[in-house]
Amino acid sequence: MSDGPMKPSRRGFLKAAVAGSAAAFAGRASAATPDTAITELQPWMQALGEGVDARPYGTPSEFEGHVVRRNVEWLTADPVSSVNFTPLHELDGIFTPNGLCFERHHAGIAEIEPAKHRLMINGLVDTPLVFTMQDLMRFPRENHAYFLECAANSGMEWRGAQLNGCQFTHGMIHNVLYTGVPLRLLLEEAGVKTNGKWIMPEGADASAMTRSIPIEKALDDCLVAFKMNGEALRPEQGYPVRLVVPGWEGNMWVKWLRRIEVGDEPWHHREETSKYTDLLENGKARRFTWEMDAKSVITSPSPQAPITHGKGHTVITGVAWSGRGTIPRVDVTLDGGKNWQQARMSGPSLDKSMHRFYYEFDWDGSPLLLQSRAHDSTGYVQPTKDQLREWRGVNSIYHNNGIQTWYVNEQGVAENVEVS
Ligand code: MTE
Ligand code: CO
Repeated sequence: MSDGPMKPSRRGFLKAAVAGSAAAFAGRASAATPDTAITELQPWMQALGEGVDARPYGTPSEFEGHVVRRNVEWLTADPVSSVNFTPLHELDGIFTPNGLCFERHHAGIAEIEPAKHRLMINGLVDTPLVFTMQDLMRFPRENHAYFLECAANSGMEWRGAQLNGCQFTHGMIHNVLYTGVPLRLLLEEAGVKTNGKWIMPEGADASAMTRSIPIEKALDDCLVAFKMNGEALRPEQGYPVRLVVPGWEGNMWVKWLRRIEVGDEPWHHREETSKYTDLLENGKARRFTWEMDAKSVITSPSPQAPITHGKGHTVITGVAWSGRGTIPRVDVTLDGGKNWQQARMSGPSLDKSMHRFYYEFDWDGSPLLLQSRAHDSTGYVQPTKDQLREWRGVNSIYHNNGIQTWYVNEQGVAENVEVS
C-alpha cells in the first residue's frame, strides 16, 4: 500500500491539528509536513487502467481482501454442517453484500439446476400443485428488505463474554432486499382447506430441513424469494428459491425450497423441539419462540475494528433490528450503562429490517465501556445479559439478544467483556 494515514510523521501532524482546533479532521496537508500521497504522482495516475472487459462480474478492490466471512475453528467440526459469520465490523449502511452474507448449512450447499427444480404444494389443499421456476416468475412479485438472524446468533455468549469480535458474537445475521412471490398467492392457487392451519416447508438439500409455520404467518408476509439485492440468490443462500419468514428465526427460512405441506397441526420436527428451543432452569422449555427480539451491537469500534487514530473526534456506529417492527431509537453508553445518549439513526427505517446508527464524540483517550441498547416500535427495550439470565437461566444457546459490551483501552484496542 502507499502512504497511509498511519505513517508516523503524518500521524504526528494530525494529533497536533486535532489539539489545535476542534474542527480539524484527517486529511489536511501543510507546507511544513507535505503529504506525499497528495504532493507526488501515484503509479495509477501515470498508466492506463484495465478496460471494461476485464471484470465481467465485479469483485471488491484487492485492498478489501480482509473483508470476508469467517468461521470459528472449534465451532466448525465439519464444514458441511456448520456456520460462517458476516463481517459486520467492516460493513456500513443497512444492506449486506451478497458475497458476505453468513451461511448456515446443515448438510452443505445444494447445487441445484434451476430447470430441474420444482416447488410442490401438497397436503390439506384443494389442488396439489407443482411449480417450475418459470411458473413462479409468472406470479406478481414484491420487494422487501428483511434481516435474517439465526436463533443461535450470540449463543456462545450466554455464560459470559467469549468470542472476540462482533463478526463472531453477532455475525449470524444478514439484511438484503428480497424479490419474491407472496406465499399467500401460491397457497391461494392451491386452495387451503379450512382445516389447513399449519405449513411445513422442506428444503431440497440433503438435510431436508423442515419446520412448522402457522398458516396466519404464511398468509401474512412470507415470500418465496428468488432474488437477493436484485440478482439471483447465491447457492449458499438457497438458489434457486428460498422461503423468507420476516422477523422470525433464521432456521425457518428454508433454503432450496422444494415442498410446502399444509397440515392441521405442527409437526414437532427436530429443528423445533430439540433444537432452536430454550430449556429453562425449571426443566421446561420455551415453545415456539419464532419472533426475534430487538437487538443491537456496536460494530465499530469493536475488537476487530479498534480505534487507530488516537484521541479526538471518534465515530461509533452499529446496527439494530427487531422481528416485531422498526427501530425508532438506539441509545449508546460510553461508561458501561451509567449514562446513556441517544444515537443518530441514518438510512431507511424498514419493517423487520436492519437499522444503522451513529454516535460521534470527542474521545479523551480514557478507557471506554461501550454498549448500545435498541428500542423497537412496540416499545420493547433490549435487555441486559444479566436480565436475560435471570429470566431464562443459562441452559440455552439460542435467542440471546442481551446488550453487548466492548471495553476499549487507552490505545483504542477493544475487547469483548461483560459488566454487571
Ligand atoms: N434450509 C435448508 N434447506 N438447509 C439448512 O441447512 N439452515 C437454516 C436456514 N434454512 C438451512 C436452511 C438456518 S439454521 C439458518 S440460520 C438459515 O437458513 C441461514 O441462512 P443463510 O445460510 O442464508 O444465512
Ligand atoms: Co440458524
